[in-house]
Amino acid sequence: MLIRYKKNYEKIAMGLLSYVPSEKDIKLLLQTIRKYESQDDWQLFLWKDGEDIIGVIGIHTESAEKATIEHLSVNPSFRAEGVGKRIISALMEFLGDKVKLVPSAALAAYYQNCFHEKDHEEAGR
Ligand SMILES: CC(C)(COP(=O)(O)OP(=O)(O)OC[C@H]1O[C@@H](n2cnc3c(N)ncnc32)[C@H](O)[C@@H]1OP(=O)(O)O)[C@@H](O)C(=O)NCCC(=O)NCCS
Repeated sequence: MLIRYKKNYEKIAMGLLSYVPSEKDIKLLLQTIRKYESQDDWQLFLWKDGEDIIGVIGIHTESAEKATIEHLSVNPSFRAEGVGKRIISALMEFLGDKVKLVPSAALAAYYQNCFHEKDHEEAGR
């Protein structure tokens, strides 16, 4: 289940974001979390599985029609189980048809891997 970031989740969110290669430096990580807390066009969501928060996704809204996924991270214990893909799909549903979700350069290969095959499957139905 996708939930909005709140200050109470700061530690878990920072822990998850620290797996993102560009966020290894604690100072940069703090700047990132403050950006999500203070700027309306930067939005952070957490992924809750039962009682556990196991993923995070952050987007930058570029315009009314476009948002870029800037951060995506899944707890290593839950990787390669389709969680990342489910998080993106849930966010797409949350944003609705009018907003096109695009991956950052760092996520392009992963995003392609997740949704390219699906397109083929759907086309083949
Ligand atoms: C990238 C990440 C979010 C993927 O989460 P996940 O839940 O393990 O991914 P999924 O299980 O949905 O994977 C779906 C597919 O993408 C593939 N994949 C995983 N990471 C990939 C990557 N970095 N590049 C390309 N493909 C990748 C998986 O092998 C899987 O393919 P398959 O279905 O053909 O086996 C996770 O590895 C992670 O948290 N990494 C650390 C943070 C990070 O680097 N984020 C990206 C930059 S913001």
